[in-house]
Amino acid sequence: MKILITGAGGQLGKELTQLLTTKEYKVFSYDRNQLDITNRTQVKEIFERDRPDIVINTAAFTKVDLCEKELEKAYSVNAIGTYHLACEAKKIKARFFHISTDYVFDGINNKPYTENDSTSPRTIYGKSKELGEVLALAIYQDTTIVRTSWLYGHEGYNFVNTIKQLARCKKEIRVVSDQYGCPTYTKDIGIALEQLLMKPSGIYHVSNHGSCSWFEFANEIVSFLNAKVTVIPIPSKEYASKTPRPMYSVLSSEKINSNGIFLREWKEGLYEYLTKEADNSGH
Ligand SMILES: NC(=O)c1ccc[n+]([C@@H]2O[C@H](COP(=O)([O-])OP(=O)(O)OC[C@H]3O[C@@H](n4cnc5c(N)ncnc54)[C@H](OP(=O)(O)O)[C@@H]3O)[C@@H](O)[C@H]2O)c1
Repeated sequence: MKILITGAGGQLGKELTQLLTTKEYKVFSYDRNQLDITNRTQVKEIFERDRPDIVINTAAFTKVDLCEKELEKAYSVNAIGTYHLACEAKKIKARFFHISTDYVFDGINNKPYTENDSTSPRTIYGKSKELGEVLALAIYQDTTIVRTSWLYGHEGYNFVNTIKQLARCKKEIRVVSDQYGCPTYTKDIGIALEQLLMKPSGIYHVSNHGSCSWFEFANEIVSFLNAKVTVIPIPSKEYASKTPRPMYSVLSSEKINSNGIFLREWKEGLYEYLTKEADNSGH
């Protein structure tokens, strides 16, 4: 089976490329310089040449604050780029898997969001990702939307690596304690995604099991590292960014569980990630 991965320079794209290349698939993996999803002609040419059976789109403009300022880029990559991929995947009859986000929800729920809950994003990032979902589903019925949350992967720009860096040079770190979600290790969503390749198309929520606040997440990282830094809980209104994040964006695992797919507890994923990072840095 031939699988084409976009956004291969990103944290999930790298992880998936690594994971699937070790299996029996033929993997075509492209970073932004090799395949720009906003360039329809390039998408068409590469799809016609490679003729993949499956396309997995991990490419996105993921910087939430920057999306507010660079609105055109956000919609161009997250919505129009996704539309290009869905259209060209349809032409070559490749199944289309598109990665999306918990930020399509407004975060006012007090129980995990299911695939049937209405989306209502509050940020340009969330709105552009929601439009990408809508366009892909409208244009091509063999589209699968995989929503995930609070991702971290090796060499990625993410919360875990930020806290690790701050823990080295600060005495105190102030972290938001009233926003809840589920940290998800790219390795774990990668394994689940491979299992999803065999399932019917549709929308699936995929994150590690359980939930926590950013403050609890930071505390877990700091205590694993045994770092001498104090983590101070702060309310969202004291956080420097003015972009409204969902207060509660935990994703329900019920649907994937009923499809026989189970992800481990977020803390277990985090410990494996931090252990690997320490091994790689020689500590
Ligand atoms: N990170 C999270 O916390 C999180 C949470 C929920 C869902 N997600 C979703 O999960 C997916 C993977 O996220 P990630 O954390 O792996 O993101 P990431 O590390 O930011 O990777 C995204 C990749 O897409 C590339 N890209 C940007 N514009 C592109 C274009 N026009 N054509 C081709 N590639 C382009 C980026 O390249 P450049 O860096 O060179 O621009 C980057 O390498 C995304 O769909 C994201 O929305 C992420």
